[in-house]
Amino acid sequence: MLLIASLVLLGTQLMVNGERHSLIYTYSALSKPVDLPGIHEFTAMGLLDDRPIDYYDSETKVKVPKQPWMKERLKQDYWDKGTQSRRSKQQWFKVNIDILMKRMRQNDTDVHVLQWMHGCEGDVQPDGSLKFVNGMDMYNYDGDDFLSFDDANGVWIASVEAALPTKRKWDGVQVLKEYTQGYLESECVKWLKEFMECRQQQLKEVCKYDKK
Ligand SMILES: *[C@@H]1O[C@H](CO)[C@@H](O)[C@H](O)[C@H]1NC(C)=O
Repeated sequence: MLLIASLVLLGTQLMVNGERHSLIYTYSALSKPVDLPGIHEFTAMGLLDDRPIDYYDSETKVKVPKQPWMKERLKQDYWDKGTQSRRSKQQWFKVNIDILMKRMRQNDTDVHVLQWMHGCEGDVQPDGSLKFVNGMDMYNYDGDDFLSFDDANGVWIASVEAALPTKRKWDGVQVLKEYTQGYLESECVKWLKEFMECRQQQLKEVCKYDKK
Protein backbone atom coordinates (compact mmCIF):
# COMPACT_ATOMS: atom_id res chain seq x y z
CA MET A 1 0.00 0.00 0.00
CA LEU A 2 2.79 2.35 0.94
CA LEU A 3 4.60 1.42 -2.27
CA ILE A 4 1.57 2.24 -4.39
CA ALA A 5 1.14 5.54 -2.60
CA SER A 6 4.72 6.57 -3.27
CA LEU A 7 4.47 5.47 -6.89
CA VAL A 8 1.45 7.67 -7.37
CA LEU A 9 3.26 10.50 -5.64
CA LEU A 10 6.28 10.10 -7.92
CA GLY A 11 3.93 10.05 -10.89
CA THR A 12 2.44 13.36 -9.89
CA GLN A 13 5.82 14.93 -9.23
CA LEU A 14 7.00 13.85 -12.64
CA MET A 15 4.39 15.69 -14.66
CA VAL A 16 3.07 18.79 -12.98
CA ASN A 17 0.83 20.54 -15.47
CA GLY A 18 2.29 23.84 -16.62
CA GLU A 19 5.68 23.23 -15.06
CA ARG A 20 8.70 24.25 -17.13
CA HIS A 21 11.83 22.11 -17.48
CA SER A 22 15.13 22.56 -19.29
CA LEU A 23 17.99 20.55 -20.74
CA ILE A 24 21.10 22.59 -21.53
CA TYR A 25 24.57 21.55 -22.69
CA THR A 26 27.53 23.87 -22.17
CA TYR A 27 30.98 23.64 -23.75
CA SER A 28 33.94 25.80 -22.87
CA ALA A 29 37.30 25.84 -24.68
CA LEU A 30 40.50 27.78 -24.03
CA SER A 31 42.97 28.74 -26.75
CA LYS A 32 45.79 27.25 -24.70
CA PRO A 33 46.11 25.36 -21.42
CA VAL A 34 46.37 27.42 -18.23
CA ASP A 35 48.14 26.16 -15.16
CA LEU A 36 45.22 26.52 -12.75
CA PRO A 37 43.64 23.75 -10.67
CA GLY A 38 40.21 22.73 -11.96
CA ILE A 39 40.53 24.77 -15.16
CA HIS A 40 40.79 22.60 -18.26
CA GLU A 41 41.51 23.41 -21.87
CA PHE A 42 38.10 21.95 -22.71
CA THR A 43 35.09 21.25 -20.50
CA ALA A 44 31.56 20.06 -21.35
CA MET A 45 28.55 19.60 -19.12
CA GLY A 46 24.89 18.65 -19.38
CA LEU A 47 22.38 20.39 -17.11
CA LEU A 48 18.88 19.15 -16.31
CA ASP A 49 16.89 21.94 -14.64
CA ASP A 50 20.23 23.67 -13.94
CA ARG A 51 21.74 20.61 -12.19
CA PRO A 52 24.76 18.86 -13.76
CA ILE A 53 23.91 15.43 -15.15
CA ASP A 54 27.11 14.65 -17.08
CA TYR A 55 30.65 15.94 -17.36
CA TYR A 56 33.68 15.76 -19.65
CA ASP A 57 37.03 17.52 -19.63
CA SER A 58 40.21 17.44 -21.71
CA GLU A 59 42.23 15.85 -18.88
CA THR A 60 40.05 12.82 -18.21
CA LYS A 61 38.68 12.62 -21.81
CA VAL A 62 35.70 10.53 -20.67
CA LYS A 63 32.04 11.55 -20.41
CA VAL A 64 30.83 10.58 -16.95
CA PRO A 65 27.51 10.73 -15.06
CA LYS A 66 27.04 13.45 -12.46
CA GLN A 67 23.83 12.09 -10.91
CA PRO A 68 23.40 8.63 -9.37
CA TRP A 69 20.30 7.97 -11.48
CA MET A 70 22.22 8.85 -14.67
CA LYS A 71 24.87 6.30 -13.71
CA GLU A 72 22.30 3.65 -12.78
CA ARG A 73 19.94 4.08 -15.67
CA LEU A 74 22.04 4.73 -18.76
CA LYS A 75 24.04 1.88 -20.24
CA GLN A 76 27.75 1.92 -21.00
CA ASP A 77 26.93 2.35 -24.68
CA TYR A 78 25.44 5.78 -23.92
CA TRP A 79 28.64 6.90 -22.17
CA ASP A 80 30.93 5.43 -24.86
CA LYS A 81 29.08 7.27 -27.62
CA GLY A 82 29.02 10.42 -25.49
CA THR A 83 32.77 10.20 -24.92
CA GLN A 84 33.41 9.92 -28.68
CA SER A 85 31.13 12.87 -29.35
CA ARG A 86 32.82 15.03 -26.69
CA ARG A 87 36.28 14.18 -28.02
CA SER A 88 35.33 15.26 -31.53
CA LYS A 89 33.77 18.46 -30.14
CA GLN A 90 37.04 19.16 -28.35
CA GLN A 91 38.82 18.96 -31.73
CA TRP A 92 36.16 21.14 -33.37
CA PHE A 93 36.68 23.82 -30.73
CA LYS A 94 40.45 23.71 -31.13
CA VAL A 95 40.20 24.25 -34.88
CA ASN A 96 37.58 26.98 -34.58
CA ILE A 97 39.22 28.96 -31.80
CA ASP A 98 42.31 29.15 -34.07
CA ILE A 99 40.17 30.39 -36.96
CA LEU A 100 38.58 33.06 -34.76
CA MET A 101 41.92 34.22 -33.37
CA LYS A 102 43.30 34.62 -36.89
CA ARG A 103 40.15 36.40 -38.00
CA MET A 104 40.49 38.86 -35.11
CA ARG A 105 44.26 39.16 -35.58
CA GLN A 106 44.90 37.92 -32.08
CA ASN A 107 48.19 36.32 -31.11
CA ASP A 108 48.98 33.64 -28.59
CA THR A 109 49.89 36.04 -25.74
CA ASP A 110 46.47 36.04 -24.10
CA VAL A 111 44.16 33.14 -23.40
CA HIS A 112 40.92 33.26 -25.39
CA VAL A 113 37.69 31.47 -24.55
CA LEU A 114 35.04 30.06 -26.86
CA GLN A 115 31.81 28.81 -25.30
CA TRP A 116 28.77 27.09 -26.71
CA MET A 117 25.43 26.63 -25.01
CA HIS A 118 22.56 24.76 -26.54
CA GLY A 119 19.36 23.24 -25.24
CA CYS A 120 15.63 23.46 -24.88
CA GLU A 121 12.81 24.29 -22.50
CA GLY A 122 9.53 22.41 -22.37
CA ASP A 123 6.22 22.83 -20.58
CA VAL A 124 4.31 19.91 -19.10
CA GLN A 125 0.91 19.58 -20.76
CA PRO A 126 -2.35 18.44 -19.10
CA ASP A 127 -1.97 14.99 -20.73
CA GLY A 128 1.54 14.62 -19.25
CA SER A 129 3.42 15.21 -22.48
CA LEU A 130 6.13 17.82 -22.79
CA LYS A 131 5.71 20.70 -25.21
CA PHE A 132 8.66 22.56 -26.71
CA VAL A 133 8.70 26.27 -25.74
CA ASN A 134 12.23 27.56 -26.31
CA GLY A 135 15.39 26.47 -28.06
CA MET A 136 18.82 27.92 -27.42
CA ASP A 137 21.98 27.61 -29.48
CA MET A 138 24.55 30.31 -28.81
CA TYR A 139 28.27 30.94 -29.00
CA ASN A 140 30.17 33.32 -26.77
CA TYR A 141 33.74 34.51 -27.38
CA ASP A 142 35.90 36.03 -24.62
CA GLY A 143 32.79 36.62 -22.52
CA ASP A 144 30.74 38.39 -25.19
CA ASP A 145 27.82 37.14 -27.26
CA PHE A 146 29.17 36.01 -30.61
CA LEU A 147 26.63 34.06 -32.64
CA SER A 148 23.22 32.65 -31.81
CA PHE A 149 20.49 30.75 -33.59
CA ASP A 150 17.07 32.36 -33.95
CA ASP A 151 15.07 29.16 -33.89
CA ALA A 152 11.71 30.72 -34.82
CA ASN A 153 13.11 32.32 -38.00
CA GLY A 154 15.82 29.78 -38.75
CA VAL A 155 18.65 32.31 -39.04
CA TRP A 156 21.94 32.86 -37.27
CA ILE A 157 22.38 36.22 -35.51
CA ALA A 158 25.87 37.73 -35.43
CA SER A 159 26.39 39.87 -32.32
CA VAL A 160 29.79 41.14 -33.45
CA GLU A 161 31.46 41.93 -36.75
CA ALA A 162 33.82 38.98 -36.46
CA ALA A 163 30.86 36.59 -36.37
CA LEU A 164 29.48 37.76 -39.73
CA PRO A 165 31.52 35.39 -41.95
CA THR A 166 30.30 32.45 -39.84
CA LYS A 167 26.70 33.70 -39.91
CA ARG A 168 26.76 34.02 -43.73
CA LYS A 169 28.33 30.62 -44.14
CA TRP A 170 25.94 28.85 -41.75
CA ASP A 171 22.83 30.63 -43.08
CA GLY A 172 23.71 29.15 -46.46
CA VAL A 173 23.78 25.59 -45.18
CA GLN A 174 20.13 24.51 -45.27
CA VAL A 175 20.86 21.10 -43.77
CA LEU A 176 22.54 22.69 -40.72
CA LYS A 177 19.47 24.89 -40.16
CA GLU A 178 17.14 21.90 -40.39
CA TYR A 179 19.37 19.81 -38.15
CA THR A 180 19.58 22.57 -35.53
CA GLN A 181 15.82 23.17 -35.50
CA GLY A 182 15.16 19.45 -35.43
CA TYR A 183 17.55 18.96 -32.55
CA LEU A 184 16.19 21.84 -30.46
CA GLU A 185 12.48 21.33 -31.06
CA SER A 186 12.31 17.58 -31.19
CA GLU A 187 15.36 15.57 -30.14
CA CYS A 188 16.29 17.81 -27.20
CA VAL A 189 12.72 17.74 -25.86
CA LYS A 190 12.66 13.96 -26.24
CA TRP A 191 15.84 13.66 -24.17
CA LEU A 192 14.53 16.17 -21.63
CA LYS A 193 11.42 14.04 -21.08
CA GLU A 194 13.56 10.90 -21.01
CA PHE A 195 15.86 12.32 -18.32
CA MET A 196 12.93 13.62 -16.27
CA GLU A 197 11.49 10.10 -16.32
CA CYS A 198 14.83 8.51 -15.44
CA ARG A 199 15.22 10.95 -12.56
CA GLN A 200 11.73 10.45 -11.22
CA GLN A 201 10.78 6.86 -11.82
CA GLN A 202 13.31 5.52 -9.39
CA LEU A 203 11.30 2.41 -8.64
CA LYS A 204 11.36 1.23 -12.23
CA GLU A 205 14.21 -0.96 -13.33
CA VAL A 206 15.37 0.99 -16.35
CA CYS A 207 14.41 4.09 -18.21
CA LYS A 208 13.24 3.93 -21.82
CA TYR A 209 16.65 4.54 -23.37
CA ASP A 210 17.89 1.18 -22.13
CA LYS A 211 15.02 -0.71 -23.71
CA LYS A 212 15.76 0.58 -27.20
C1 LIG B 1 50.13 40.28 -29.10
O1 LIG B 1 48.97 41.07 -28.97
C2 LIG B 1 49.02 42.03 -27.94
C3 LIG B 1 47.65 42.66 -27.82
O2 LIG B 1 47.14 43.03 -29.07
C4 LIG B 1 50.15 43.02 -28.23
O3 LIG B 1 50.24 43.98 -27.21
C5 LIG B 1 51.47 42.26 -28.36
O4 LIG B 1 52.50 43.14 -28.75
C6 LIG B 1 51.36 41.11 -29.36
N1 LIG B 1 52.56 40.28 -29.29
C7 LIG B 1 53.22 39.84 -30.37
C8 LIG B 1 54.37 38.94 -30.10
O5 LIG B 1 52.87 40.11 -31.51
